[in-house]
Amino acid sequence: MHQPTRRLMLALCASMVLTGAHAQSVAPAPLPRVIILATGGTIAGTGASSTTTVGYTAATVGVQSLIKAVPELAKVAQVSGEQVFQIASENMSNEHWLTLAKRVNVLLARADVDGIVITHGTDTLEETAYFLDLVVKSRKPVVLVGAMRPSTALSADGPINLYNSVLLAASPEAVGKGVLVAMNDQIQAARDITKTNTSTLDAFRTPELGMLGYIQGSKPFFYRQSTRKHTVDTEFDIAGLNALPMVEIVYGYANVGPVAVDAFVAAGAKGIIHAGVGDGSLAAKVLPALKAARQKGAIVVRASRVGQGILARNGEANDDELDFVAADTLNPQKARILLMLALTRTSNSKDIQRMFYTY
Ligand code: DGL
Repeated sequence: MHQPTRRLMLALCASMVLTGAHAQSVAPAPLPRVIILATGGTIAGTGASSTTTVGYTAATVGVQSLIKAVPELAKVAQVSGEQVFQIASENMSNEHWLTLAKRVNVLLARADVDGIVITHGTDTLEETAYFLDLVVKSRKPVVLVGAMRPSTALSADGPINLYNSVLLAASPEAVGKGVLVAMNDQIQAARDITKTNTSTLDAFRTPELGMLGYIQGSKPFFYRQSTRKHTVDTEFDIAGLNALPMVEIVYGYANVGPVAVDAFVAAGAKGIIHAGVGDGSLAAKVLPALKAARQKGAIVVRASRVGQGILARNGEANDDELDFVAADTLNPQKARILLMLALTRTSNSKDIQRMFYTY
């Protein structure tokens, strides 16, 4: 055999052996490990027919069935599931939140867990997301997901939402971004997302402040992130907590009176969120009851029923004089969550106001 040809053949054989050896020595990296914690909701719901999109039963399908219904999950992560609760989310409670948060923190402390997805009813999804945003002690992704249509419906959104959530929880781009919500191909931040429609697929939005990005073609695309502190950067620790302080919300409207405020204070509320009209205006008939609440030691937070914008301190009321707290841009239901956690740390209203400008 001609010398160059022989060398070429030897080189070719050698390269085939090396490539083969190289291929054997560099196995594909294992997929990230994502644990799905199921709590119920419409994503686990069933209806009487494929066209039933209202009037169905939430929280009937178990986590293993949810996983089995989306075999594509196995392409993006090593997935396992736990059924933490099986409830419609209007029944979510402080106790559920503490149980869920403690489980999340235990799992994320494990080196073999890379991210967590929580399936959840949409009615209180934004609240659970914000609570976790304040108490999860890991930078690993935690992604909440729900569905606006039950699993039995035509074009049910649950399976694709679950797939997108798992791939987001498995993605390095989601690390350190705080608790996220992935629905309708969008990535949104726990602090600012809210449910804006009773039934449509695009119900979850972040009006004005904006969502964080999209999930498209099995990839997450981030364009912004929250400026507020979250997860490992908060001062809240629920590890030793078995209960949260009682904080209630009173709603503002024309002709409102003091009955609700007085009733909550009499029941032992440590905090009152006033969901006021406009920029948190206080009706003359309610103000004395709120002042009395404050004098009895309850923290009063002025929020707005409007939904967007900054609740200005000393705007529609003299908060300095009343010793009230302004909710900044948090809606009333999220202001309640922050005040509950704040009261586990302090009863000082000035310190609590700092927290509303921090988280
Ligand atoms: N009962 C509601 C809930 O569990 C159903 C709404 C939903 O999950 O989309 O939040």
